[in-house]
Amino acid sequence: MSKKDISRRSFLKGTAAAGASLAAASLLPRITMAEDEPTSEFKWERGVFTDEETGWQLCDLETGELNLEGRGANGANAAVAAGTPWAAKAGLDVLKKGGNAVDAAAAVAFAISVTEPQASGIGGGGFMTMRAADGTINFINFRECAPELCDQSFWPVVQDPETGRYSVVGGANGKGGRAIGVPGTVAGMAYAVEKFGSLPLADAVQPAIDLCENGFYIGPTTGVSLESAYTNIVAYPEFASIYTLPEEAADELGRFTYFTGDLFKNTQQAKALKLIQEQGRDGFYKGELQDAMIKASNKYGGVFQPKDFEEYEADLREPVQGTFMGKTVISSPLPSSGGTCIIQLLNVLEAFGVDKLKEYGHNSVEYIHVLSEAMKLVYSDRSKYLAANTEDALVKALMDKEYAKYLASLIKMDSCLTPEAHDPFQYEHQDTTSFAVADKDGNIVCVTFTINGYFGSYVAPDGYGFLLNNEMADYDSNPNSPNAIGKAKYPLSSMSPTIVLNEDGSPFLAIGSPGGATIIVAVLQIILDTVLFGMDMQEAVEQPRIADNASANLRYETRIPQETIDALVALGHKVTPYSGDWDRSSGSCQGVLYAADGTLHGGADPRRDNKAFAF
Ligand code: GLY
Repeated sequence: MSKKDISRRSFLKGTAAAGASLAAASLLPRITMAEDEPTSEFKWERGVFTDEETGWQLCDLETGELNLEGRGANGANAAVAAGTPWAAKAGLDVLKKGGNAVDAAAAVAFAISVTEPQASGIGGGGFMTMRAADGTINFINFRECAPELCDQSFWPVVQDPETGRYSVVGGANGKGGRAIGVPGTVAGMAYAVEKFGSLPLADAVQPAIDLCENGFYIGPTTGVSLESAYTNIVAYPEFASIYTLPEEAADELGRFTYFTGDLFKNTQQAKALKLIQEQGRDGFYKGELQDAMIKASNKYGGVFQPKDFEEYEADLREPVQGTFMGKTVISSPLPSSGGTCIIQLLNVLEAFGVDKLKEYGHNSVEYIHVLSEAMKLVYSDRSKYLAANTEDALVKALMDKEYAKYLASLIKMDSCLTPEAHDPFQYEHQDTTSFAVADKDGNIVCVTFTINGYFGSYVAPDGYGFLLNNEMADYDSNPNSPNAIGKAKYPLSSMSPTIVLNEDGSPFLAIGSPGGATIIVAVLQIILDTVLFGMDMQEAVEQPRIADNASANLRYETRIPQETIDALVALGHKVTPYSGDWDRSSGSCQGVLYAADGTLHGGADPRRDNKAFAF
C-alpha cells in the first residue's frame, strides 16, 4: 500500500466525524462567551501553510488530509523540527538573523503556544536539554508545580472494588481549577534566554505576537481537537471566547468554532505575549496576568494564591546519562521518569544482546516481543518506584547495567512476562509537543513541553487567549503510590527531550516526543532505529511504532503486517491496534541527526502537523 493510500484511508475516518459534527452543529447548544464580543477580529479566509520556497503544503485544504510527504529537511548550517510549520519557521528565522539555538528554541516555544494551542503553551511547562558547541551539557526544569495549598486531601478518590484501581471523583484532576499546576513555560524560556541566549527575550516573543496579529491557518490536528473539545468549549466561556466564531459567521458556516484551514488571529494571546515581551517573566507571574490566572483557576475550584506564581522558579538540573552501543544518551532527570526509563530500557536491550536484535530484524516478531517484554519490566519499576522526589540512589539503581542484566535474563523467547505491578499511567495523551534545534557547530536544544491533556484544564484566564494546563492529572490517584498527590511538589512526568552523542563526544542526535507515558517508548524506538539499524532521521520518525507497559497490552500501528501480530498473539501477547496506520497517540517525534557528511537532518512526524526546516 502506498503512503498516499494509507493517508487517504486514515483521513476518511476523520472527515466522517467532522461531517457528522458539522451537520449537527445547529442542534448543539449555543456557546456563552465570557465577553460579549469575541476578541479575535473575524475576516473569513481559508488556506493551508505553504512553504514559500518549495511550495510544500501541510494538508489538503478541501479534505484536511495531512500531507505525509516532505516533512523532513536537511541543511549544512542548522535545522529546526517542531510541532507546526509556523513555529519551525519562527525558530529558523531567529537563527538566520543571528540568534543562537537557545534564542531559536524560545521563539519556537512561544510560536507553539499560538499555533499548537491544544498541546502546549505559556499555560504549561516542560523540560529543555541542551548541549553547547564546547560540549557543555545543561538541563532546565520548568515543570508545572502544585499550588502550596494542595495536600493529600485535595481530591476525593474512590477505589473500584473489582479492579482495585483508584480514580478521582468527578475527574477533578483532569479539568477545572484543581487540575492546574503553576505554569513554568515563561519562567523556563526567560531563564534559558537570559543564561544561554544571545538576544533579548523580547525578540524571541515577537514571532509569536506576529502570528497572533497576522493570523495563521489552523492545521488539521488543532482543527480536529477543537472539534472534539466542543463540550468543554461550551462549559468554559473563557475558553469559548478564544475559539468560537462570531455569531454571524457561525450562522453562515453552520458551525461554532474555528476549524482546519481557517485563518485564525489570537489578539487575546497577543496581549499576554506583549506583557511578557515588555516585562519578562514578571509580566506573566505578577500583575494583571497573575490576577487573571488566579481568578480563572479559583472560579473553577482552584486554591491559588499570588505567592504560588511569584515564587515559581525554573531550575538547572543534572540530566541523567547512560550509554548504548558506545554512544552517550542524555535525557530528563526527575521530575521526569522519562530519561531514567529510556536508559533502563536501552540497558536491558543491550544486556539482552544488540546483535540478536539486529538479526531478528526491525519490527520482526522476535524484535517486537523483546521490546514489549523490556517495556513491561521497566514500566513496572516506574510505577513502583518513581516519583518527582525519588532518592538518587534508587534512580541510579534502576539505571545500573548489572540490574539490567538481571531483567534481561527474565525475557524468554517462547513465553510472555506477566508483570506484578501495574502502571498508573496506562492511558496515552495526545497532548504535549516536542521540538529540536541544532546547528553545525554542535549547539543543540531539545524541548518537550505541554499543557497535559488536549486544551489542558479548559480554564483560560479571561481575555488572554491561552489555556492553563491540567498537569495535576500526572499525579497518581492511588494514595499509596510514591507519585500520589501531596507527596512531591511536581507530578511525575514522562517527557524526555534526549540528546545522543557519539563515542568521541560529538553530537549524533536530538529527539523528543509527546504522548504521555508513551513518550518513553517512542523516543526509545527512534534511538534503536538510528543507532542499531542505521536509519536516517526522517526514516526513523516514519517507522510504524509499538507500545507496551506494565498493563501488558501491546499496542501497534496497523502498518505492521497482520501475520506479525498473529505470531505475537500466539506467543501470548494481548494486543490492541492503534486507531490507524499513522496514529497520533503513538508519539509524534521531532529530531535532528548529524549525518556522517556533516549535514543536519531534521525529522518531523507526519502523524501530526509537524515540520522540519533547514538551511
Ligand atoms: N503530561 C505529560 C508528561 O509530563 O509526561
